[in-house]
Amino acid sequence: MAADTLVIERLNRTFSSPAGDVAALSNIGLKVKKGEFITLIGPSGCGKSTLLKIVAGLDSDYSGTVLLNDKPIEGPSIEKGFIFQEPRLFPWLTVEKNIAGNLSLKDPKVRAKVDELVALVRLKGFEKSYPRELSGGMAQRVSIARALLRNPEVLLLDEPFGALDAFTRAHLQEVLLDIWQKNRTTMLFVTHDLDEAVFLAERVVIMNPRPGHIRTVLPIDLPFPRKRASQSFQELRRKVLSEFEKVEEPAVDHDHGAGI
Ligand SMILES: Nc1ncnc2c1ncn2[C@@H]1O[C@H](COP(=O)(O)OP(=O)(O)O)[C@@H](O)[C@H]1O
Ligand SMILES: [Mg+2]
Repeated sequence: MAADTLVIERLNRTFSSPAGDVAALSNIGLKVKKGEFITLIGPSGCGKSTLLKIVAGLDSDYSGTVLLNDKPIEGPSIEKGFIFQEPRLFPWLTVEKNIAGNLSLKDPKVRAKVDELVALVRLKGFEKSYPRELSGGMAQRVSIARALLRNPEVLLLDEPFGALDAFTRAHLQEVLLDIWQKNRTTMLFVTHDLDEAVFLAERVVIMNPRPGHIRTVLPIDLPFPRKRASQSFQELRRKVLSEFEKVEEPAVDHDHGAGI
């Protein structure tokens, strides 16, 4: 049995505002094994980004336990790579300099690592290009490479492919799975795309809002590479979907007087 890389217990996060308190996260519990691929799915406002920010060390205003390798999260660190929906590259730096960050490419070790990452995200030949010369998908691959530079323990991805067209998105999913299979980095991947959640994950965490909580965790017991058109894939997709439909029913019942 692999060790738990991430342990979350009784996690609560409330935002206070003049209009009242918002329970962004309520009693979240989740254990993630080393090397596991987890997708978090749920409608807008269910606390996905809040959860990711807490794990990233970008938000410490919570109650409960969040441990990375048995240690409480204390601010951002190289153990946690974060990838946002938009690539956030420096426009005045080349691809390779964006990846190297504040490390010098004159250092042979850094040079070798950057070259390895460029190959991993399939950007050979674009090392000297600038962000404006890249497509959205290529730019996002640069940001993935940058996040991998210091061999993070966990990669936190907040709807990283949300702004991309369907074909580019599918391609980047393949690239990410390839990286995961080579590096075995633990992945926490937020999406609101059902197909994406099922295609990538070993377990899908289904969240619901008001208050943000985990409704259920579904194992996706399909071998890689997966086929979206396969019956087993479609069955699991339906299973995830039905978890959302279950939640919406009571609201409809209240509004329209069910059972009549
Ligand atoms: N900085 C903040 N201040 C006040 N409320 C916030 C803040 N960040 C998030 N929230 C609220 O917390 C809830 C969860 O937000 P978020 O984690 O961004 O959801 P998701 O990423 O699933 O769409 C939402 O109701 C949102 O309005
Ligand atoms: Mg979000």
